[in-house]
Amino acid sequence: MILIKNIGELVGIVPAGVLRKQGDEMAETGILKDAWLAIEDGKIAGFGPMGTEPAADKVTDAEGGMVMPAFCDSHTHIVYAGSRDGEFLDKINGLSYEEIAARGGGILNSSDLLHETSEDELYEQSMARVREMMAKGSGAIEIKSGYGLNPADELKMLRVIRRIKESVPALVRITFLGAHAVGRGYTHEEYVQAMADMMPQAAEYADFVDVFCDEGFFTVKDTSRLLEAGAACGLRPKIHANELAVSGGVQVGVKYGALSVDHLERTGDAEIEALRGSATMPTMLPGSSFFLGIPFGRAKEFIGAGLGIALASDYNPGSSPSGDMRFVMALGCIRMRLTPVQALNAVTLNSAYAIGLSDITGSITPGKRADLLLTHPGWTLTRLPYLYQTPFLRTVFLGGRALE
Ligand code: NIG
Ligand code: FE
Repeated sequence: MILIKNIGELVGIVPAGVLRKQGDEMAETGILKDAWLAIEDGKIAGFGPMGTEPAADKVTDAEGGMVMPAFCDSHTHIVYAGSRDGEFLDKINGLSYEEIAARGGGILNSSDLLHETSEDELYEQSMARVREMMAKGSGAIEIKSGYGLNPADELKMLRVIRRIKESVPALVRITFLGAHAVGRGYTHEEYVQAMADMMPQAAEYADFVDVFCDEGFFTVKDTSRLLEAGAACGLRPKIHANELAVSGGVQVGVKYGALSVDHLERTGDAEIEALRGSATMPTMLPGSSFFLGIPFGRAKEFIGAGLGIALASDYNPGSSPSGDMRFVMALGCIRMRLTPVQALNAVTLNSAYAIGLSDITGSITPGKRADLLLTHPGWTLTRLPYLYQTPFLRTVFLGGRALE
């Protein structure tokens, strides 16, 4: 047994069986001051106030530091090749995301780079990002395909994601996003057909199916067709919706039982209505709002309407080149006016829910994996987003083991 003693604040305590937080519950989390926490077999064995701690083989003295659940990053595109520095300069010079894409940049640029890169090289480049994310506190990571844009290269991406999953201590969930953009050499119709046809092969790797349901990319009709093909192979949807326009992506996602609908920068009351009473987690990606200079999601209104919110990084080379979940949390507080507790729930329990993992990680709950962050002394939950660039992390525990 490993014992962490003298924890200044143990934050993120949630009773067993609570898989997500919605509405007013978003403002609640259990906090125990001057606490201990025990780890056994990679799981949280128990916790309590100092003075009641059990004997242990190994003791870590937190010296008053905070312990909280590791971040869950439920939306990333971290398997990509090369870089898109040139487009960054175009963006600085005033081109929008859509204008860059229309010039053959954007997703198609990444697809060309990926095609030319060997599978081993793609793995190495992507692993560097995964290591960075784990070192910054992410313990569960969703990774999408979507830069292959033809069956052979989509499968290449899915193999690389599976190899990452098998080689890291973080939990990895895999999403097939063949419908990210129309691949070169296809008509729109042909491409949707090709992605529907390869669904059984993709399902050998993937947990989820995603579609970029937005203006200029894929329609609600395309999305329905692909989600039906995915459902036939046991893939649950997670949808890119309402980033560039009010796309109908939220409604079609909810209709097909999506686990999450993501982005949501442009939503009206109809989207909030569609989500009410559903099992779908609205997921906002403030890093892409920040980087692209587009609106932030209306998180407070969603919560006011009784909904939950998850926040994720969207780490990708075009719209959010960062997987720093502490910064995502800070943007949630600073730009979306979430309280630190609401933001914590959004980057831990609710984002774990958005990838179907909130029964095993995402909170301080006995029996869950010991995916934990131990901070330097003096840190509190409020300081994390407030002093948003000061180094705070002392140790990341994934499955009960300290990350080297
Ligand atoms: O989530 N919106 C679509 N896809 C990504 C961007 C991908 C890229 O530009 O490479 C996103 O923002
Ligand atoms: Fe995305």
